[in-house]
This record gives sequence, C-alpha cells and structure tokens, in this order.
Amino acid sequence: MSGSNILCIVTGSIAAYKACEAISQLVQRGHAVRVVATEAALRFVGPATLEGLTGRPVLSDLFAPGAALEHIELTRWADLIIVCPATANTLNRFAAGLADDLSGALFLARDPKKPFLVAPAMNPAMWAHPATVASAEKLKDWGVRFLPVGQGRTACGEMGEGRLAEPDAIVSAVEAALARPARRLRVLVTSGGTAEPIDGVRVLTNTSTGRTGALITGQLVRGGHEVVLLRARGAARPGAPCTEETFFTFADLAAALERRLGSERFDAIIHAAAVSDFRVEGVATNGEVQLAAAGKLASGSSPLLRLSPNPKLVDRLRGWSAGPLRIVAFKLTRGADAPAARAAVQELFAHSGADLVVHNDLDAAQNGELPADIHRPDGSQAARCATRAGLAETLERLLVNETPAR
Ligand SMILES: Cc1cc2nc3c(=O)[nH]c(=O)nc-3n(C[C@H](O)[C@H](O)[C@H](O)COP(=O)(O)O)c2cc1C
Repeated sequence: MSGSNILCIVTGSIAAYKACEAISQLVQRGHAVRVVATEAALRFVGPATLEGLTGRPVLSDLFAPGAALEHIELTRWADLIIVCPATANTLNRFAAGLADDLSGALFLARDPKKPFLVAPAMNPAMWAHPATVASAEKLKDWGVRFLPVGQGRTACGEMGEGRLAEPDAIVSAVEAALARPARRLRVLVTSGGTAEPIDGVRVLTNTSTGRTGALITGQLVRGGHEVVLLRARGAARPGAPCTEETFFTFADLAAALERRLGSERFDAIIHAAAVSDFRVEGVATNGEVQLAAAGKLASGSSPLLRLSPNPKLVDRLRGWSAGPLRIVAFKLTRGADAPAARAAVQELFAHSGADLVVHNDLDAAQNGELPADIHRPDGSQAARCATRAGLAETLERLLVNETPAR
C-alpha cells in the first residue's frame, strides 16, 4: 500500500509533534504527503519541520497569493484527508460548517467518496464536553471516521481519555482506509422506520433514526461499492453519494423492495430499516369503525385503534430477488438476557433464511452508540462491534470476503 496522495491537516495541539512522526512514516512508506497547518498548529511545530518531512511547502493561508483555489485543488489531489492531531476547536468548527480558514474550507469542499479521518487529541475534559461529543456525533454521521483516542496521562498532566493515537496506529488506520476491496459489490440498504397511517394526517411510527443505515451506506460507498439506499422520509442521510429512494409507509417500502429486487441485480441486502410489525386496520370512534388512512379524526374524540400484524418483509426478500442474494437482517431487543437474545436471533434465522443477523439491545446503548453482535446461522458469532462505525466496517469486510462471485 504505497503511492497514495495524503493530505494531513495539522491543528494546534501539543500532540502535533507526534503527528510529525506519523507523517514521516507515511512518507517513508512511499506516500506523497501534503500538509495544511492551522495558525495555531504553527505555534507548536514550525513550517520548516513539516516541509522538511514532506518535501513540499506547508499551506496555511486560505488567501495566500497564487493559492486561492488550493482548497479545491487539494481535495481533488488527495486520495485521503486526515486531521492529525484534531483539536476540540477544529472538530467543533467542522461540525458548525465554518469555512473561514483553509482547514474548514477543505472540510466543506472535500469529495465525500474519499476517506476523511480525524485523530483527536485534547485534554480529557475537552473530549468529554457535550459540545465536543455532539460535534463528534455529527461528524461521524457525515461519514468522518474517528481514530480511537488513547487513555492515560495527557500532556497537561491529567489522567483520562483524549491522547492522540500512536503514530503506528495512525499509519495503519490511513493505509486501511486507502485499501480498495478486492471486489466491488452492489448492495441494497434499507434504513429508518416505517410509518403506519391512522387517519389521513396521523401515523404510528417508531424511534428509528436511520443512523446505522446511513453509516453503513457511507462506508460501502467510500469502499468503492455501489449502493441503492431505501431511506425512510426524515431518516439520517448518508454522507456519501448513492442512489436513494425514500419511503414512508410499510406498503411503500414493500413495493420498493419487490420492484428493485425483482428488476435489478444485487449481491447483498442490508435490511436495517425498522419495519412496523403492526398496521392500523381500523379506527373506532363512538361505536363507528372507519378505515385507517382516511379523513381526519376529530381532536376531541377517543378513538380505539385496531392493529393487525404486518407480514415480515425480511422473509420475502429472497423470493423477490431475481438472483442469488446475501441477506443481512437486524434484530433489536430491549433488556434481553443472553439466552433470550440468542433465541430471538435463531428465530429470525429460521424464518428469514438470512446469512447474517445483526443483534443489538437498546438497553446497551451508551453515548449515542449501539453495540452490535453479528451472528451466523450455525449459532456462531462472526463479530462483536462496539460502535456503529465498527459495525459498518465489519459488515463491509464480511460481505466482500463471503459473497460468492456472480
Ligand atoms: C500549550 C497548549 C496546548 C494545547 N493543546 C491542545 C490540545 O491538545 N487539544 C486541543 O483541542 N486544544 C489544545 N490547545 C488549544 C488550541 O491550541 C486552541 O483551541 C486553538 O485555537 C486551536 O486552533 P485550531 O483548531 O485552529 O488549530 C492547546 C493550547 C495550548 C496553549
């Protein structure tokens, strides 16, 4: 893995000296590295050091004479951009979409199909601050990949989380993100929750945000795969370009799945949508039953909803598919112990014929993350993922390695 163009944005952290070591290793491994340094970064490392390591001038000024369109040219040139070290200030500025310096302009002008990595480095209180946590969440949803921060004593003498990853780990993460899959897959992803009409203006729905589906889509697109995303209206959007179709109700999603699977070839489907198990069959008010999805119930009435089960879409996917299809199904539980979770996963395998089942339990959600286990039909566990981004990476790897060639 050599010969890639890497743009490293260095920001004003005391860990900038460690970034120099990572830059040096990347250059020694045959990559072309260009550095953009914020004004604050240049208070920690001199431009001569960065220029000496990369053999190229350091860019810092958005308005430098002769370099006014550098932010556009650089995003075209780079195969990958990494912010290393990334300060709290820069993460918060990126999340706000500010573009009044070169690093912010580069972030907005980046090519969303190319990997954008950040290696944060800061004091533990800054890393744990709600502003930084919220910005990191937002950036992850936009497809930015975060390198894990280290734990231990930081430069300011405090113990905790926030240290910059070690140079070896930074180099490995960069090269892993640059690696192209041996095979390009065509994948259908479903994401977000369906809505079930009560009357002509009201719906029953669920709490799905679509973040998992959006992250999986972003990961696959940046990995060079072709993705068609069936996304619920209002669900999170992927930070990378793909073919999108939106759905609202169960019926919309079912129709889109049947049409797409029957008329197009997909290697795999990742069915992450939260599909309603029930639909509103009728609404009774004052002894009168009216059909769902019609009219508007009077606001002072006390309607009784009659629900009936929806068919399981996941069970129909293989039958609808014109060709062989790998199916990744999802099982969400709430407060299930290990035997109950295992039983729920086995039941899903039994009726759906899925190749992999991703299980998560809502009670395990923490700091906006939902850990997930990936299971195989024989009862073995293929992987355990602590984060949505980890799940997206693992699913890509499993599908690339395990999907038979057409
Ligand atoms: C000695 C010193 C060390 C600093 N280290 C960090 C750090 O590790 N992480 C961080 O987020 N900010 C750190 N800061 C604060 C940033 O330099 C400051 O927020 C600056 O505005 C960041 O600008 P930039 O994000 O444009 O590079 C440090 C400041 C000083 C004076």
